[in-house]
Amino acid sequence: MKIVIPGGTGQVGTVLGRAWTAAGHEVVVLSRRPERRGEVPWDGRTPGDWFKEIDGSDMVVNLAGRSVNCRYTPTNLRAMMDSRVHSARVVGEAIAAAAEPPRVWLQMSTATVYAHRFDAPHDEATGVVGGREAGVPAYWSYSVEIAKAWERELERADTPHTRKVALRSAMVMSPDRGGVLDVLLRLARLGLGGPVAGGAQYVSWIHERDFVRAVEFLAGREDLTGPVNLAAPSPLPQRAFMRALRQARGVPVGLPATRWMAELGALVLRSDTELLLKSRRVVPGRLLDAGFTFDHPDWPEAAEDLVGRVRGAR
Ligand SMILES: NC(=O)c1ccc[n+]([C@@H]2O[C@H](COP(=O)([O-])OP(=O)(O)OC[C@H]3O[C@@H](n4cnc5c(N)ncnc54)[C@H](OP(=O)(O)O)[C@@H]3O)[C@@H](O)[C@H]2O)c1
Repeated sequence: MKIVIPGGTGQVGTVLGRAWTAAGHEVVVLSRRPERRGEVPWDGRTPGDWFKEIDGSDMVVNLAGRSVNCRYTPTNLRAMMDSRVHSARVVGEAIAAAAEPPRVWLQMSTATVYAHRFDAPHDEATGVVGGREAGVPAYWSYSVEIAKAWERELERADTPHTRKVALRSAMVMSPDRGGVLDVLLRLARLGLGGPVAGGAQYVSWIHERDFVRAVEFLAGREDLTGPVNLAAPSPLPQRAFMRALRQARGVPVGLPATRWMAELGALVLRSDTELLLKSRRVVPGRLLDAGFTFDHPDWPEAAEDLVGRVRGAR
């Protein structure tokens, strides 16, 4: 297959590109700063020569968007929104303009679209979209607005010959440097991998192999369209999540952090506490209903596997 991945130079693109190149597919990555073979320039917002990569391709997986690992300043929030809306819109335009459009467009979205919640998991049918929760910082609603606007662009696009799926993905756990697991392992090694603000908030996650397998499953299932949760079926509270990671890494202690310590840490790391404190209890309702099975459904085993691969690679 020829697969086009706009924004494929980051962590998730690396995971998908590695798997699909190894499987013998032709992978084209659209990047604002192309450097490697297979990378083609675009600006993420305007039509260009890159349209011809999409014309005649089999599948498009759009991952482009400003990293959310930053301070949520008004400028950064605007950039997070605009980069996602504009890139999704112009990808839709490219598909609409293609003489031979791809069969399927998988558009990245996020599990963050769902409400901060502890009591029950969100699946696609019964889950509650966030933005109106009481007792959370008002600015958290902006991440939900971004996710909604992102998905709206997908829905609006007039691409009658191309099936559209929104990937409401949880954190993708891979052994790559700079990925989310790398950051969490660094904290654990420093003794900082303990519960944050009590640690009751849920963490949703997916092992990179299951992420690739789920994307391939969705690509092949002509009957599936619209939003699909990509998350392991067993989200768990942050304190249990970090305990399992520490055990896998052989770190006995993880200091607990209060909310203000987390605020300070996020300030130092130029990140935002929403990433740590929002309870993301998301389950893969549609994938399971469609018959998808996870190779790594439980975090302690997945953490062992991933930490083993980090060790093997370094
Ligand atoms: N990582 C996860 O666990 C996870 C989970 C759920 C959802 N997501 C979402 O999935 C997508 C990919 O995740 P990732 O972790 O691979 O992200 P990433 O490492 O930040 O990569 C995203 C890519 O988007 C491109 N980009 C950045 N700013 C842009 C802009 N203003 N306009 C157009 N393109 C821009 C960049 O490519 P160039 O610099 O080469 O142009 C970058 O490599 C993101 O949208 C993320 O929010 C990620």
